Parts: sequence; structure tokens; C-alpha cells
Amino acid sequence: MISIKQFFTILVLVLVLSAFPHQFTLAAETNNPAKLFEINCAGCHPRGGNIIRRGKNLSLRALHRNKLDSLEAIETLVANGKNNMSAYKDRLTEKEIQDVSTYVLEQAKTGWK
Ligand code: HEC
Repeated sequence: MISIKQFFTILVLVLVLSAFPHQFTLAAETNNPAKLFEINCAGCHPRGGNIIRRGKNLSLRALHRNKLDSLEAIETLVANGKNNMSAYKDRLTEKEIQDVSTYVLEQAKTGWK
């Protein structure tokens, strides 16, 4: 049997958790691709640029030139990294890599507005 005190503690916990469910989801689980890009990529790729290697930016032209204008190619690059860009497969989930890569391709097509 649980005591009255334990019962009320559980009751309060349940009420608090059900009142504010969104505050208890992990920040890492953000499913907002723009935010994922802001946090993980924008430091080197502000507005689709590339502060380290200018020619390797995220415009559709550059992606096309570098044969990275497909979702699969971008996902592979993001997962495994390349030269000065580190790999993200241990930092982002597979879904996050998909989401952020889709975002990059979409933004490239609309000119990073
Ligand atoms: C530390 C800086 C840095 C960060 C952070 C970074 N990148 Fe890069 N990225 C680079 C560099 C440098 C290259 C060029 C690699 C090469 O030598 O081909 C690059 C290349 C790319 C390319 C290919 C561009 C082209 O035209 O060839 C894509 C796509 C890309 N990055 C996406 C991302 C995404 C998405 C993220 C976030 C998950 C990210 N990058 C984070 C530095 C970075």
C-alpha cells in the first residue's frame, strides 16, 4: 500500500506533467529543421554560405557543381563529414540528418531567402 503522502506526491506530479507536457520534451528532439540548421550548421554556413571554403556553399549552383544536389548526397555528406566539415552521424539522429538535409535542399532551391 502507498501512504497518503505518496499518493499526493504522485497526484501532483501527474498534474504538473499533464499541464506542461511540451516543457518536458528534450531540446535535442527538436523537429524544427530551421532550428537544427541554426544550431548545427549556420556557424559555418550563414544564409547558405561557407565561411571556410567559399566555393563549397549551399547555393543550388554550388551543390550542382559539386554533385551534391540530391537529398541522398547531402545526407551522406552531413553524416560522414568532409575535409574541414565534421561528421554529424554521432551528434544528430538519422531523422535529424534527413530533416536538416531536406531543409538545405529546399533553401537552395528558393535561394536562401
Ligand atoms: C566547422 C564548419 C562547418 C559546419 C559547422 C558545417 N559545415 Fe558544411 N561544410 C563545411 C566545409 C569546410 C565544407 C566544404 C567541404 C569540402 O571540402 O568539400 C562544407 C560543405 C558542405 C556541403 C557541400 C557544399 C558544396 O557546395 O560542396 C553541404 C551540403 C554542407 N556542408 C552542409 C552542412 C550542414 C547541413 C551542416 C549542419 C548539420 C554543416 N554543413 C555544418 C564546414 C562546415
